Amino acid sequence: MTSLLQYESGFALASNETRLEPSYRIDLRSFSEKEYNKFVKLNSVKDWSLLSWKDIGKPYEVTSIAREKKEWEDTHETNLPANVSWQMFNKSFHEWFVKDVPAEMNESKRKFMQSLKKFDFHESKSALGEMVRIHLWNYAHRVEDGIWDPRGKRALFEGLDLIKPRILFLGAAEGYEAMQLSAIYPGGDIVFVDYDPFCKDTRFADFPESYPFLGINPSTGSNKVYHKDDFASEYIVEDIRKLPFSQEFDIVLSVGLLEHFPDSLKSEVVEWHRKFLKPGGYIIMTTPRAQLKSKLYYEIMADVMNHTYRELMTVEQMGLYLYENGLEILRHGFIKVHNGIIARPR
Ligand SMILES: C[S@@+](CC[C@H](N)C(=O)[O-])C[C@H]1O[C@@H](n2cnc3c(N)ncnc32)[C@H](O)[C@@H]1O
Repeated sequence: MTSLLQYESGFALASNETRLEPSYRIDLRSFSEKEYNKFVKLNSVKDWSLLSWKDIGKPYEVTSIAREKKEWEDTHETNLPANVSWQMFNKSFHEWFVKDVPAEMNESKRKFMQSLKKFDFHESKSALGEMVRIHLWNYAHRVEDGIWDPRGKRALFEGLDLIKPRILFLGAAEGYEAMQLSAIYPGGDIVFVDYDPFCKDTRFADFPESYPFLGINPSTGSNKVYHKDDFASEYIVEDIRKLPFSQEFDIVLSVGLLEHFPDSLKSEVVEWHRKFLKPGGYIIMTTPRAQLKSKLYYEIMADVMNHTYRELMTVEQMGLYLYENGLEILRHGFIKVHNGIIARPR
């Protein structure tokens, strides 16, 4: 029997279906074992001890920076502190997640046409930039669903030896990936950590309660849909470096954290994950991929995204950082726009 779910726009959604909401895609499509490799490409490296930086090169550094950061640094004649740059980033990125994208695409087109009629070059250039950004966002987030990528993340995260895991999400922002993990491995709890209060109070608080996470019903083994309020969770606003926990988590997770630190700080970031992990637990990390379309995305969306130091890397580069810092790589691969690694201390 096909189950039906009620969603914001009023139409019921059948299991195994996908639909576009004004701000995002909902996607309950599952994949067969045969289709698995369409959503995640795994395990290109056979022996990490044989890989060297000479073979694979260093990550690509994104050098175009957000206007807001430039203006702050010009005014204060000093570098923007990291925590303030994250506050700017989170506020700016969140504004895009809540846009009514079809309405804004129409509006941006109208403004561009109006500016052309006025023969105003500066207004036309700015209106064209807005139109390009909203169309790119529509493609990246709604059409491709590359940012949340639920099928890719399910493919990357599945098959781990976990029962009712305690999950620690470092730099949790809106918390998406810990909720996806909790749907696949239900019954545990999540501790979200982010030192920007806006993440707890707005990014996570406003994450749509109706968004469906496809996971597993542990009593039957069949698919089950979960929502934000189904997960036992606590959101802590704190610096990762000041957390009071011991080695008590089955999963320590970060998404888009490692690439924001230059090489001199990467071992400290790896240590943040190791420090809170139970023996036998899993470190799960993802970082954006070094691919042409991501390089273009970070150029075009510079004002929205580039408030902090940022690298784009391959999964081989990401894995070598983790391997060199004492981790055993259990699974590595890439999904639509991120690399993903599952590891534990060697
Ligand atoms: C790039 S974001 C994670 C990507 C996320 N998926 C998103 O959609 O924005 C990294 C997060 O880590 C947080 N963060 C960075 N350094 C931190 C620290 N030392 N302690 C706590 N949170 C930190 C930032 O505030 C930010 O929200």
